[in-house]
Amino acid sequence: MSPLPPPNPSELPADKELVLKVIPMPADVNQAGDIFGGWVMAQVDLAGSILPARVARGRLATVAVNEFVFKQPVRVGDILSFFSKISRIGRTSITVEIEVYSEHFADQGIYRKVTEARLTYVALDENGQPRTVERPAGGPARS
Ligand SMILES: CC(C)(COP(=O)(O)OP(=O)(O)OC[C@H]1O[C@@H](n2cnc3c(N)ncnc32)[C@H](O)[C@@H]1OP(=O)(O)O)[C@@H](O)C(=O)NCCC(=O)NCCS
Repeated sequence: MSPLPPPNPSELPADKELVLKVIPMPADVNQAGDIFGGWVMAQVDLAGSILPARVARGRLATVAVNEFVFKQPVRVGDILSFFSKISRIGRTSITVEIEVYSEHFADQGIYRKVTEARLTYVALDENGQPRTVERPAGGPARS
């Protein structure tokens, strides 16, 4: 008899880049024992800034969390992997889509999608005002 397939493994996104891996610790749990949503949001904000920083090449600020969905709870000790892609480059803003997957520390390779989000970052000048960004060759069209 062939072995059972792993329980509902989520496919990892082929169109996104792995930008961060992190392991939540006991200090990050809520009263129910799951990882506090605000902690996950902070990690997504950090992970989400990485590709926009590559384009903006300077100071950035998060201007909007356009969408944020907690699809599954996150447990202490799971490994979280953050995948990102730029979905839009505007005049001064860069929007990214993020997907977060968890896997057990001691049983790696079976992934569950736990969060998906869309965030927008703005390139800033030295006065903290929006600054025009260069569109990279081959990147998403300015719209
Ligand atoms: C970022 C900031 C400088 C933008 O200033 P602003 O006067 O709102 O600038 P604009 O209205 O010109 O918007 C700048 C860009 O953000 C985009 N933007 C603004 N609000 C947005 C929203 N809700 N969703 C998506 N994009 C948004 C605009 O479309 C524009 O993009 P574009 O130039 O590519 O077309 C200002 O809002 C700010 O300092 N915010 C605080 C940032 C911060 O502290 N972040 C950390 C939060 S804890």
